[in-house]
Amino acid sequence: MVDVTLRIRRYNPEHATQKKPYWEEFTLKNCDPTDRILDLLHRIKWEQDGTLAMRRSCAHGVCGSDAVRINGRNRLACKVLINELGAESQAHIKVQVEPILGLPIQKDLIVDMEPFFAHYREVMPFFINDEPVPANGRERLQTKEDRAKFDDTTKCILCACCTTSCPSFWANGKYVGPAAIVQAHRFIFDTRDKGAQERINILAEPNGVWRCRTIFNCTPACPREIEVTKAIGEVKLAIQKNSPDGIIKITEIKEVVFSS
Ligand code: SF4
Ligand code: F3S
Ligand code: FES
Repeated sequence: MVDVTLRIRRYNPEHATQKKPYWEEFTLKNCDPTDRILDLLHRIKWEQDGTLAMRRSCAHGVCGSDAVRINGRNRLACKVLINELGAESQAHIKVQVEPILGLPIQKDLIVDMEPFFAHYREVMPFFINDEPVPANGRERLQTKEDRAKFDDTTKCILCACCTTSCPSFWANGKYVGPAAIVQAHRFIFDTRDKGAQERINILAEPNGVWRCRTIFNCTPACPREIEVTKAIGEVKLAIQKNSPDGIIKITEIKEVVFSS
């Protein structure tokens, strides 16, 4: 068993003395090395300070709602065991937990996700195809090879770990960010979808993919192990190879990226 001190970034704009962010420490005795950071946050909220604000839902790495910065890295609180943070070899560890960066803090560990979701909506993250469904009345078919082209980016759970670890996004919140590009990638390279050209045109704009400077923070931040920077690179390549004037054809995009 191990004692854990959580150093938590607190902020409450509605409280007379907590209007500025500050650090507060909570110590929990006899934690199990297999406890997750989310378990410890729950214990603090339930046993020590019910005012601690955090967001979570599934508790199993699926909903993406509990992204926080743990010891300086964006992680899902429900996926980080304390034995990853030294609990196996030490009797007492200290762990720092703070809100993800680049989005306005609402209270304690909760940030306003609306700017993030606004960028998500910008790239039209939905299936577009107005053509009649096949005559057999069944779903639109696709080869295994075509499906594999966007398999990785279907795994996104919109947790924002990637976008809020990106220095380009910190510097300019108008940048759509890696998560929105991952979502666009999922549809751009789907042979059944007909909206690729519109999405490519949006991402060729100044606040689209070219604000990515290939810093690579986004890829290790992704709890779904999506190759985020690779997906961004594929979208960049599609624009660069096909679109000297920003106007390209959907068939060209789909052919060129995976043959290069
Ligand atoms: Fe989260 Fe990964 Fe999706 Fe980014 S790409 S929002 S890090 S799941
Ligand atoms: Fe940012 Fe990732 Fe590009 S960290 S700059 S989106 S490679
Ligand atoms: Fe749902 Fe962690 S609470 S991903």
